[in-house]
Amino acid sequence: MVERDESLQDFLNAAKTAYLSRATEPASAGSLNKIFATLETPAPHANATSGRLPVCHYLDEIAAHTNSFPADLQFMMKKFRAIEPALHWRPRQGDCTGASENFSENHANTMILGPGGLEERKDVWLGVSLVGPNVRYPDHRHPPEETYLVISPGEFRQKQQEWVYVKKGETFYNPPNIVHAMRSFDLPLLVFWALNA
Ligand SMILES: [Fe+2]
Repeated sequence: MVERDESLQDFLNAAKTAYLSRATEPASAGSLNKIFATLETPAPHANATSGRLPVCHYLDEIAAHTNSFPADLQFMMKKFRAIEPALHWRPRQGDCTGASENFSENHANTMILGPGGLEERKDVWLGVSLVGPNVRYPDHRHPPEETYLVISPGEFRQKQQEWVYVKKGETFYNPPNIVHAMRSFDLPLLVFWALNA
């Protein structure tokens, strides 16, 4: 039987608590229940390389202020920081429709579980996007439904609808294949994503 690293399991426990108590939409809650049930079975640990991009310095800035966060988010961030040195931060691959001009140097994504993550698995993708201040992330879409959990706030939108401000600790649900995007203002945007693949 595959054993999961204790620090990764601690992070997943903290993420589950925060996500499930903060998901408001029924579709999102249903998706997250399936995701965390699936994750009860570990997948083999991948020997992925790790590394940061320059924009990742904002992580330290955000982490320096977590003592003002609600307890569950503070705990989730603490557990995330423990696994973060093992993660591989990468720029987004593919189409950049709608992105701001400063996008390429001012964002980073990392997969915690899923392709290129700490567990190479196809059933769930769990990861993070970090977007520097005043950056618009491209429009994109993917077949799996997705729930964002916002740690440092920004705006989100679907299709050509109005942008929605999502506060720290709130979730935002994207149904399968919907075109969606996010953008930051004066603060860096940090958001976890959980996709039921
Ligand atoms: Fe997405």
